[in-house]
Amino acid sequence: MAKAKRQMQDDIKLIDVVVELVDARIPLASKNPDIDDIAKGKARVIILNKVDMADKDVTALWKAWYEKRGFYVALVNSRNGNGVKAVQDVINEACKEKIERDRRRGIQNRPVRAMIVGIPNVGKSTFINTFAGKSVAKTGNKPGVTKGKQWIRLNKNTELLDTPGILWPKFESVEVGKKISWIGSINDNILVPEEMAIDLLNYITSHYSGLIGRKYEVEESLPEDTAASLLERIAQRRGCLKKGGEFDLERAANLVLDDFRAVRIGAISLERPEEAEDAGNQ
Ligand code: G4P
Repeated sequence: MAKAKRQMQDDIKLIDVVVELVDARIPLASKNPDIDDIAKGKARVIILNKVDMADKDVTALWKAWYEKRGFYVALVNSRNGNGVKAVQDVINEACKEKIERDRRRGIQNRPVRAMIVGIPNVGKSTFINTFAGKSVAKTGNKPGVTKGKQWIRLNKNTELLDTPGILWPKFESVEVGKKISWIGSINDNILVPEEMAIDLLNYITSHYSGLIGRKYEVEESLPEDTAASLLERIAQRRGCLKKGGEFDLERAANLVLDDFRAVRIGAISLERPEEAEDAGNQ
């Protein structure tokens, strides 16, 4: 890990702007805060990726939240390309001071150099492929300046470092770990599906009232109810039973998690700016 961090510190010296992808469903939990130190002094762009999977209204709040903190923000669906074209304008905007400085010094047409970073599975490769498109040429090595690095020439103004920088999710709290596990970005084998599903049902029922009830055709909340008994009702409704007739809660839990990750429950955001502020992320 230390090696990866050193590599990124070296790469960052070569670039003007850090383009950081986060998952629009968990824009803060999927952000590694170490990058804020590593990228000090660089222009910063945040891409809220997978916007198709998140709640539009909450995503709009996150855009404003990050802008207030000095980031230039783009909302993107890298899979179908929505919003990807606009990223170029956002990068130009983020780099306008550098472009202006170059102009004053008589340097013309020096391309802006960008690097994509983000945690695994956030969509870096998909984004690069969509953003760069098929027509762009790889520029190859430029001795002296970018030794050993491959750059993708996006247009006459922008070059992109070919390999994205991989950051690791930072499990700063139990809450962050939970959110990363809900979206399926860490290995499920080490986690207990029932616990994950119960926590997820708790979150969804308290923020999107009625959604789970309608999806699974069960009574969503009963007096004295808990998310655990909601999971039992889902197991019953879906016929998740073990041989002796006992509820197969593991199967029901995996069903809920799979439905969530495939956006079959709905476009849902799993964190909100006001909750982040309560947790001390000012
Ligand atoms: P990474 O390089 O950051 O590790 O992520 P990668 O591009 O491999 O993307 C991880 C998964 O997320 C892929 O799905 C990819 O299609 C999906 N993805 C990326 N961007 C978006 C987006 O904006 N919206 C949606 N809905 N999905 C997105 P996969 O199932 O692992 O692969 P595949 O079946 O799509 O090939």
